[in-house]
Amino acid sequence: MATILVLNGPNLNMLGVREPGVYGTTTLADIEALVSHSAADLGVKTLFFQSNHEGALIDRIHEAYGKADGIIINPGALTHYSYALRDALSSVGLPVVEVHLSNIHKREPFRHVSVTAPVAVGQIAGFGAHSYVLGLNALVHHLQPRS
Ligand code: DQA
Repeated sequence: MATILVLNGPNLNMLGVREPGVYGTTTLADIEALVSHSAADLGVKTLFFQSNHEGALIDRIHEAYGKADGIIINPGALTHYSYALRDALSSVGLPVVEVHLSNIHKREPFRHVSVTAPVAVGQIAGFGAHSYVLGLNALVHHLQPRS
């Protein structure tokens, strides 16, 4: 059974409270429950990790080497400037799907750039909590092209 690591970066622990007009009222725990449900339907195992610290996310990505089969990541604002996170993702060589709750491309100009997307298989943005479910489906399909 494939193991998928689902990573969330800075401030995503505040979902539900944080800018509900932009991010909705769904909490991170709700999102993790939704993803777990879809993972069970797809026959994959999920592991979850959130941190507000770049280094902790990098350490968790390194730990996934040889253990996980793929990564779903919402890097939060690190998306837009963390070359260290990008290098960590490319270091482990696992397939990555980048997800965002909001459509970063129709927000402030600084959010239009993702330094992590070039090392991902693809990016899904703008579907709220459903972005994670779409990302999981996309990653599982990438790993097992017939599913
Ligand atoms: C986000 C978009 C980022 O620009 C922002 O910094 C976040 C959340 C999203 O999911 O829409 O923290 O990644």
